Amino acid sequence: MEALRLILLFVHLIGFALLLGGAVAQFVSGKFRINPAVLWGSIIQLVSGIGLAAPLRGGGDAEPDPIKLGVKLVLAVLIFIMVFIPRRREAVNKGHFIGIITLTLVNAAVAVFWR
Ligand code: HEM
Repeated sequence: MEALRLILLFVHLIGFALLLGGAVAQFVSGKFRINPAVLWGSIIQLVSGIGLAAPLRGGGDAEPDPIKLGVKLVLAVLIFIMVFIPRRREAVNKGHFIGIITLTLVNAAVAVFWR
């Protein structure tokens, strides 16, 4: 179980790198387009996060707070919707793009600081 959890966490960190890295690289290019790294990053975060939310630590106090997981799920679904719907558009609004980056950072902060 611990090996599975670590593999899922590894995949989760790769998804985070794709989502944030893809979004920041796109943002500094000045063209606010949803690129494949952002799209796949948002999908990987949802799938690997739901996997990580399973009781893989043997249950009890060792598991993360279910409210924390619920907050992360809601934010990740929002990010996914914001990425998936305009994925074929040439560009989205600057504010929409900043929203995706901000929600991604907030979700990482929830993961790290909510203990
Ligand atoms: C954009 C979406 C997401 C981002 C940016 C994100 C970010 C992160 C980061 C950076 C970590 C590593 C923290 C650490 O190991 O200390 C992490 C861990 C984790 N994430 Fe996510 N995550 C996202 C979505 C989700 C979703 C949807 C779930 C499930 C509902 C989830 C559940 C978890 C769990 C269970 C861990 C293990 C560490 C812990 O909570 O204590 N994540 N996440």
